[in-house]
Amino acid sequence: MTTYQLIFFPEQAYSSTGEGNDVTAYANPRGHPVRFLSWSLFAFLVLVGGCTSINPGELTSCAKYAWRFQRPVADDAATRFLGKVREETARCRGGEPAVSLRSLPWVDWQNYWGAGDAKSRSYGPAGWVVGHLFPNGRGIDGALLDLQFQRMEMIKFNLFDNSGTYEKYVNLLGDPAGVFTDPYVEMRVPEKNPPSGTVENPEYARLTKSGLTVYADGSQECHGESIRFRDRNGYCNDVFNPLMGSTNQPFARNVQFEAATFLDLDEQKQSQETKNRHGDRLSLYEPNPQLISKKLFSRDQSQSVNCHEGRGSTTEPSSCHYEKASWFNVLATFWIQFMTHDWFNHLDEGRNSATMMSMGCTDELKKTIQCRPNDQIGEALIQSENPGTFRIGDKEYLKKAHKTTLNKVTAWWDASHLYGYDESSLKRVKKDPADSARLLMRRVGAQPQESRKLEGWKQGYLPVFDQSDRAYINSVWEGQEATAFADNWSIGLSFFHNVFAREHNKFVEVFHRQDPEKDSGLHRPENPTAPVLYKDVKPDELFEIARLVVSAEIAKIHTIEWTTQLLYDEPLEKGMNSNWSGLFESFPAAASAVENSMKDLKESGDVAEANLKYSAYAAGPGIFGLGNEIRDCWHVFFCPDKWRFTDLTDINGGTHHFGSPFTFPEEFVSVYRLHPMLPDLLEYRDTGQPDRIIRKVPVVETFRKKATALMEQTGLANWALSMGRQRLGVLTLLNHPQFLQNLPIDDKGGHIDVAALDIIRDRERGIPRFNEFRRQYGLRTLTSFDDFIDKRLEESAKHDPAKQRELDRQRDIVARLRAVYGSHICQKVRIVDGKQEPNRITTAQVNEDGTPIDDCLGWPDGTKVDNIEDLDTVVGWLAEPVRPHGFAISETQFQVFILNASRRLFSDRFFTSSFRPEFYTHLGVEWVMNNGPAGQCVERTWLLFHKVDRSPLKCVLRRTIPELEKELEHVVNVFDPWARERGDYYDLQWIAREDAKSDDAFVK
Ligand code: HEM
Repeated sequence: MTTYQLIFFPEQAYSSTGEGNDVTAYANPRGHPVRFLSWSLFAFLVLVGGCTSINPGELTSCAKYAWRFQRPVADDAATRFLGKVREETARCRGGEPAVSLRSLPWVDWQNYWGAGDAKSRSYGPAGWVVGHLFPNGRGIDGALLDLQFQRMEMIKFNLFDNSGTYEKYVNLLGDPAGVFTDPYVEMRVPEKNPPSGTVENPEYARLTKSGLTVYADGSQECHGESIRFRDRNGYCNDVFNPLMGSTNQPFARNVQFEAATFLDLDEQKQSQETKNRHGDRLSLYEPNPQLISKKLFSRDQSQSVNCHEGRGSTTEPSSCHYEKASWFNVLATFWIQFMTHDWFNHLDEGRNSATMMSMGCTDELKKTIQCRPNDQIGEALIQSENPGTFRIGDKEYLKKAHKTTLNKVTAWWDASHLYGYDESSLKRVKKDPADSARLLMRRVGAQPQESRKLEGWKQGYLPVFDQSDRAYINSVWEGQEATAFADNWSIGLSFFHNVFAREHNKFVEVFHRQDPEKDSGLHRPENPTAPVLYKDVKPDELFEIARLVVSAEIAKIHTIEWTTQLLYDEPLEKGMNSNWSGLFESFPAAASAVENSMKDLKESGDVAEANLKYSAYAAGPGIFGLGNEIRDCWHVFFCPDKWRFTDLTDINGGTHHFGSPFTFPEEFVSVYRLHPMLPDLLEYRDTGQPDRIIRKVPVVETFRKKATALMEQTGLANWALSMGRQRLGVLTLLNHPQFLQNLPIDDKGGHIDVAALDIIRDRERGIPRFNEFRRQYGLRTLTSFDDFIDKRLEESAKHDPAKQRELDRQRDIVARLRAVYGSHICQKVRIVDGKQEPNRITTAQVNEDGTPIDDCLGWPDGTKVDNIEDLDTVVGWLAEPVRPHGFAISETQFQVFILNASRRLFSDRFFTSSFRPEFYTHLGVEWVMNNGPAGQCVERTWLLFHKVDRSPLKCVLRRTIPELEKELEHVVNVFDPWARERGDYYDLQWIAREDAKSDDAFVK
């Protein structure tokens, strides 16, 4: 056991089994030698740190906290952590303010020392060791501990696979947190020679040709060509579970199958639990999605000029008002749309079911809210089947959810939106006939004179879909740029697809410049030990290597650049960087030691316990690169490099699926419904005069092929600047873009309201309503719409007009929620959660005193209570008023990301044990680590060490849009508005940078 483990995961020093059933029961450290040792060390450190604290109360609390220790991981979901700590823990980590805010339902870590802006800090000595003992160190470490703990409990309680493995998961261990060494039967690619009458699966035939061994018992193993690169369909990422993460796999759930709420199913509608929770109040169209959109989502237009439902005006000045986030820009909006297209999609080539359904507008509603009764959309693509049940003891479980949906793209972070995820999408990706390692690009417009512009111009733009592509595109995409994922195209997607196509070609270009006689690092399965020289790498191999590199760059940008700006505070800066490069980035020996103990863990007998520890230990070395053994070579004297290309267990050994095959859950899609981030009008600028907003371009006027035409006329550099300087929309109620509420969908004048559709789709797919959603994910239940008012404002608003305005806004929202969702007289006999009954009531949470949660949610029997149990999840998380500092999303959304964002790395061998030169080449590994070719984004410091630019996207933009060099000089994080003064310690101020004081966004 390392010091690191003892300090940061003291609860790991002993088994959690049998302890901590009671929420208030904490392990007593006495009576166990390891525990005693770890407590002594921990207590010593905290006490020494505590001495520096000004407040003696804090010192005592730290001592008590150290004595009581960390809580063990709960045995039962209903008694889990909920992000709420004991009083002394709160005081030790955040002083009296943190203690006073414990009564609120929101997570506690946000109130710890140092977790906010500069005001949240307590000033004292810094330094790695000493710093951890002082208040800020205790606060930040405490926050990281809380987040780590939540992830561990979610791994234990929130993995529900819909592909048929769930029974094994529960059965094998009697504890849903297992590690399986046996491959899953369900993760085999469908058989060749299928039973007579069925059509042979062409995919299977393709794979067997290129490398899939099928053993007599039916188990499968990938080999040969199929293991080398990212497969078209996502097969063979896990070489023993080839189907995992591939296209057309069912979305999983993070909530109990019983909690997935399908109110059109009699079985669920009639269940006692549904009646207790929702009475007879809910249906697909109740509360009405059009009403929700109009009353709760619409932007206030009183300050807009000529907005015209987001279309603006071509003849007169126009503006469409929206609530803006000061620290996050429009590039970030389109980045996340670009990302989601890589990870998930429910639609088949942009199409839903052919069966049309109403969007919920009735003639009656038309009169009051002016909706469009004729709006229609295809029903969601859904599979209904009897899920079946199984029993363990007297407990009955569903094997799957009542209804499932398929992910139509690969779940891997494999840039499938750029390179393809099935046969048709692959055909949409055009290789350059002159060099098939490159993507085809075309030069647009006149050749510029100025050297940087010329360099950009030469890199070109993606080709356009034309008539010859009709066989494999949706006809509405004709005329727009050719790429694998082409749906909902706009100028933002055009931007990122072009940038990364250029980046692909840049990598190829630099690759061609390598010394041809040198070993590239690549290995081929047919001759696994022979080195492949740079000159011998074939164009098609190089294309796939570039895909590996671009995918890893994208994953890195998302993890350490986009997310750290989305969640702009110190705990998350540390947390996200620890996911990627580890908390011990600068201490390779320590990182290597922790990684070694992780290997032991995986092989240990207690699989359930090991599973939980694994995710916690990963914070030390980081998830990226686990098992690739490159890190073991941190000094020249001892470089064991035991990793072998010929051994599948080495190739696959760094992945970890936590007992449940990797795929995204349905709930993940729901919390990415980030449409309020979109402005209606884009503020167009030109790099020649960056401070001027030249004109407003409606997003809707850049839809599909209009984006392509506009990009040709105006160019990537101007759009980088424009979207880089404009703020995105805050994720809150009353902030949906007008254009999406009135989105044209065909040439016949048909429209849909995408905001209303967000609600309808979640209901069709059984996303639990907000309160049950929070309970399932281990967050506190809310008890009234008044919880959506930030109580801290009530006092401070008296002296601060801005705070008073915010308080008024929140009160207005609560009044609107009451008007739309209503109230009822509660009955305590109606149990809504936490009671095990034969009718499979969900058991996600109990009251603090251990009693089940009932319809009154803590109010006296017969009280008129808000229908808060009915609140749609999207509405709930948009309404959350209290968020950790710098969080553009709410804590409920974030909880979903804590679990799934890291699984996406843990499960992918190309980010772990196969992140090796044998796959990526030496240049590829360097490119990912250094954000580009040698020296470009790396700053040499003293001795041998070098510092890599913290903004990998900046490095990509400098290469692919060289004309931006000057503008990018000031950029620290590409997703922070480019003309903003970043200020001190996670400042959110909207103040112009010294040399951008005349920027229109600040002066107007
Ligand atoms: C021009 C901008 C955009 C347009 C026109 C657009 C349009 C749409 C439409 C029409 C749907 C509904 C599809 C259906 O269920 O039938 C949808 C779904 C969705 N949108 Fe957007 N959207 C845009 C931007 C964004 C952005 C910036 C995000 C941020 C992440 C986003 C996230 C989503 C998600 C997560 C879904 C659900 C996808 C699924 O069901 O698999 N969209 N969007």
